[in-house]
Amino acid sequence: MTDTASGERTLVLIKPDGVRRGLCGDVIARYERKGLKIAAAKMLLVSKETAERHYDEHKAKPFFPELVRFLTSSPVLALAVEGRNAVAVVRLLNGATKPWEAVAGTVRGDLALALTPNVVHASDSVATAQRELPLYFHEKDFVSYQRVDETFL
Ligand code: CMP
Repeated sequence: MTDTASGERTLVLIKPDGVRRGLCGDVIARYERKGLKIAAAKMLLVSKETAERHYDEHKAKPFFPELVRFLTSSPVLALAVEGRNAVAVVRLLNGATKPWEAVAGTVRGDLALALTPNVVHASDSVATAQRELPLYFHEKDFVSYQRVDETFL
């Protein structure tokens, strides 16, 4: 389920480069400051099978093997991020996929230079979020709570 009382739910992965560079706190803080809510979080090593299912749409692309190798190379932090228009808002905060095109102020605009290690992944639509979230979370992993500033969000 990606539509909740708090709005949409989307998947974010802080990729191996983001974890190993110690950027998890910085990235999460951006979502929290915007008013989005973390509904689930899990540090995990992604299996080859999960990585291949995750990036299935890129299977035929030349960069697919490198993508899978990189995603499985060390732990990622998987997040379920909730809020009004969460899918689009998270992608806006993350910035363009190619970090050299990402504007300053975004995660990739501020923190990345390269294409495969580009710090974060986020679902690109509500339908994609519905497909991607179950790759990392069970329904029981999602928690429900109120932010104290919810009246203003
Ligand atoms: P992500 O949002 O995780 O979705 C697919 C990933 O493929 C993308 O971020 C990039 O890290 C990676 N990638 C590698 N090469 C390319 C490419 N040529 N075009 C787009 N994405 C690429």
